[in-house]
Order: sequence, then C-alpha cells, then structure tokens
Amino acid sequence: MEVAGWRSCLSFGRPLCYTMVMNENFAALVTSWYTQNKRDLPWRENREPYRVWLSETMLQQTRVSAAIPYYLRFLAELPTIDALANVSETQLLKLWEGLGYYSRAKNLHKAAGIIIREHGGVFPREYDEILRLPGIGLYTAGAIASICFDLPTPAVDGNVLRVMARVTADRRELSLPAVKKDYTAALAKIYPKTNPGDLTQGLMELGATVCLPGGSPDCAICPVSGLCKAYADGLTGKIPVAGSKKARRREAITVLILICGEKLAIRRREQSGLLSGMWEFPNQSGLLSADQAFALADGWAAAPARVVKSADKTHIFTHIQWDMRFYLIECRCTPPEFVWANEKELRETYAIPSAFRLSGFTHLLP
Ligand code: ADE
Repeated sequence: MEVAGWRSCLSFGRPLCYTMVMNENFAALVTSWYTQNKRDLPWRENREPYRVWLSETMLQQTRVSAAIPYYLRFLAELPTIDALANVSETQLLKLWEGLGYYSRAKNLHKAAGIIIREHGGVFPREYDEILRLPGIGLYTAGAIASICFDLPTPAVDGNVLRVMARVTADRRELSLPAVKKDYTAALAKIYPKTNPGDLTQGLMELGATVCLPGGSPDCAICPVSGLCKAYADGLTGKIPVAGSKKARRREAITVLILICGEKLAIRRREQSGLLSGMWEFPNQSGLLSADQAFALADGWAAAPARVVKSADKTHIFTHIQWDMRFYLIECRCTPPEFVWANEKELRETYAIPSAFRLSGFTHLLP
C-alpha cells in the first residue's frame, strides 16, 4: 500500500510522514499568518466568484504586479459574467493583449456563455460543476470553491508546490504529476471548515512573498519555519530540486512591417494553433535576406519602395522559441488582403501579441 508522502520521506532516508508536518497546526499557522499579513489586492476586496475566477485565471502564468492593471481594466470593461458572455472576440483579445496564453481568455468567454445558458447566469457553487467549465482545472476549481464557497478544496499552484516541498523536505521534481496529487491529498485532510479560502490564499501568499524560489526564502519571518524540514536541515536552497528543462522547439520567422503613409499592414492568424485568432504583421517562416523580404512584399502587391531597417529578436513561448527577423518596409500600395490600420486602431481595436512587437519597428503601436 502506498501512503501519500512516505515515498519522499523514505527517499530522503528518514521515515517521516506528511502527517507529522501537514497537520491542523500547520493549517492554523498559515491561516492566521495570512489574515494578518495578506497583501491588499484588488481581487481580495470581496469573494464574488467572477472576480476570483478572473484573477486566478490571469494569475496562472502572470505575476501579481503584471496582472493587476489587466484585471482592473477587464473588470471595468466587463463587470459581470453577462457582459463577458456577450463581448466580441476582438474586444476580448484586446483586453487580454500582452498577457499571453490567449486560450485562457477564450475559455473564460466560453465558460461565461455556459454559465448564462446552463446556470441561469449564476456561477455554480458545486465543485464538480465548477470543474466542468472550460479552462477550469483542479487548481482554479479548488481556489474558487474554497475562497468563494467555503469548500475544503486545496488549490496547488507553483507557489504552493514549493512551500509543501520545503516543509516536507521532498526531493522529488515538482513537475511530476504524483507530487501535486500527493500534496493535494495531504492538504485536503487538514483543510479547515471555517474560512478554508484563507488557507488556500495563505499558502499561495506564503510562496509568493516569503518562501521564495532559489536561495532566497525569508525563513526568519515564516510562520511555519518551526515545522519546516528543509529549514531544520539547512536545505531550503536545495529544495525544491531543480527539474530538468526540456529543450524548446525552435522556429525561424521573418516579419514584414509594411508601412504605407500612417498605416501598417496586419492580418488575422488562423483560428487554431499558436496565437490563434490574434492579429499579426505579415510574416513567413525562415530567415529572409533584405532582398527576399523586399521581393515578398512585392509579391503581395504592396509596391515596396525601400527596406528601411531590420533587426532580430527571440521570443519564447512555453514550448517553442521563435527566432525572428523584422524588416520595416515602406510601401506605396495597400493591397486588400491585409487590414491597413493606423495608430489609433492598432491601440484600441486589434490585439497584437507581444511576439510581434519590437521597439523602433512597430513605432505606431502603443
Ligand atoms: N497567485 C495565484 N492566485 C493568487 C491570489 N489569489 N493572490 C495572490 N497571488 C496569487
């Protein structure tokens, strides 16, 4: 029989079970620390599920400081689930522009439609119903259910993984699915009946502000340092164990910034795949020479006059790296296969991912 937690302790050479550390005392210490030390963040003003859902979705790949302005703008433009369900995809993507992982925005939109049609416009209160919504996985469902509906459902994100690994001196790689599963099971046993959301947010907060990655945790102010195995053994710099990084697939791509008067050529990406449905500057795979880029613009009937300048940049996605070459090309024609957008339109209407931005080239962009 396998008991959650034993493996890691045994692999460390000491028969220690999670339950020795992960007990109600641990939960109480984290919760009380959180209530006294939590940051004043806009999504913590109240427990309205729409706000928590939106913030947790944004925070999955984005730091708090970067997410705040997006969150405030999104909520100001789309203050209700109903407003979200009825937004156009163009406006939605514009509100998400720069955050990346655009499928998160599309899933929010889809889920809002389902809440309107199938739940009478009211965010579902049952964990299983929440989990059924598009884009909502175990983490987000656990966060919403515990924070908004007082259910004892853990939410284990990267911050919580790190806290748990250190407290239990777990030397496994955190990317292993079994690790998250074990921590979720161990936490579920100690979730308090009152204000379980404070434990959810307390663990995240501890990871984000105290139990920091690398060699820089601030153990002197940590509420659970007295229970922490990594701290006791001087291993906070070694745990969590660094995972082996997978090499990203690399793709070369040449981007043509075609400028005609005050307008730049843009076009819509395919509806599937990377950055699907977003707007982009015309581009082609491979790294083209200036002559080849000029010829390409000519082939698109943009009547290129001259290549003004070029520059290279690298853009990194989760699994892919784009090695990009940009050419700024002055043109005399505006062929209709592109949308020709001026500065205001580029700023207010069309969502252009950060991969396609390069300072000094897309100077018409905000
Ligand atoms: N990271 C993920 N969720 C968070 C939250 N609710 N508050 C702060 N940081 C977070």
